[in-house]
Amino acid sequence: MLETASRLISGAGGDMKTLDQLRVRYLGRKGELAALFKGLASLPEEERRGAGKALNEAKDELERLWSAAVESAREKVQGRGEIFDVTIPGRRPLRGHLHPITQTAMEIGRIFGGLGFETVEGPEIELDYYNFEALNIPRDHPARDMQDTFYITDDVVLRTHTSPIQVRVMEKRRPPFRIIAPGRTYRCDSDVTHTPMFHQVEGLMVGESISFGDLKGILTVFVHQMFGPHVGLRFRPSFFPFTEPSAEVDIQCVMCRGAGCRVCSQTGWLEILGSGMVDPEVFRMVGYDPETVTGFAFGMGIERIAMLRYGIDDLRLFFENDLRFLRQF
Ligand code: FA5
Ligand code: MG
Repeated sequence: MLETASRLISGAGGDMKTLDQLRVRYLGRKGELAALFKGLASLPEEERRGAGKALNEAKDELERLWSAAVESAREKVQGRGEIFDVTIPGRRPLRGHLHPITQTAMEIGRIFGGLGFETVEGPEIELDYYNFEALNIPRDHPARDMQDTFYITDDVVLRTHTSPIQVRVMEKRRPPFRIIAPGRTYRCDSDVTHTPMFHQVEGLMVGESISFGDLKGILTVFVHQMFGPHVGLRFRPSFFPFTEPSAEVDIQCVMCRGAGCRVCSQTGWLEILGSGMVDPEVFRMVGYDPETVTGFAFGMGIERIAMLRYGIDDLRLFFENDLRFLRQF
């Protein structure tokens, strides 16, 4: 019996199910060994001792063989790496990340933060007073047509730019200060470089002798930090009712490197922001003395910056939420 059992155990080839069956058959409570032990009682007194000893030895031997077979079967499974290969890359849950517009807004905040600008916010649903009137754009002023406004009531609008935050900040603080204010803005507008909802960052620096030179210096540093020191920029004379003098800043189109393409309307340049020296009339509205205080302001389109930064030729891609697009950032 011992021989048969040993042969079967080593013949099991490490198969756990077979090994378990053999354990029951030979070592179990009703197994073959147990039966032989029972049989001892019927043996004559003189033979019983020797037979008992032999049976005990056989039992020890079988148990040893069986445990060894089980142990080596386990090692083999682990060694083959079938169950616990810790080096196989797991299937990770998909992880989201910040939207490219958010990433760009944060980068803008970081650059201006380094220049001493504090970040503040304002409401998206805005009073006509802050969006227009306090910015020197009275009700029937033709400049209102520059921005196609979504009106909620006669006095309440979806803000068309972040400039109303300038007024809100100046009403609360005394100069000197420098702030930027990022946020969503809304206009009835739609093509490859315009969407009805877009983002702007407003900037405002007010003090005793802030000059147009400060404006140029700060914005040049910004453009070079954002796009690299070799990207060309130009200050182009412009008009805003709330700044005088005013300038728009264009940077060289990074899609065509200035050669002219669909994105820059064949001009080689792309407008990224409007800016200027705060108009004395705006200072008067918030109770500042324009004889002692000066300042500059600017408002830039975050989507434009993101387009140029990532080389994207259609602004609408940012809002279609196509994962094939978003996963690239
Ligand atoms: C303004 O909104 C002024 N408030 C900027 C300003 C602030 C001037 C402070 C002076 C002082 P403008 O309408 O040009 O200006 O818009 C500013 C920028 O917003 C544009 O250069 C452009 O980058 C972006 N922009 C305007 N309309 C859209 C739109 N529909 N979609 C995406 N970006 C837009
Ligand atoms: Mg403009």
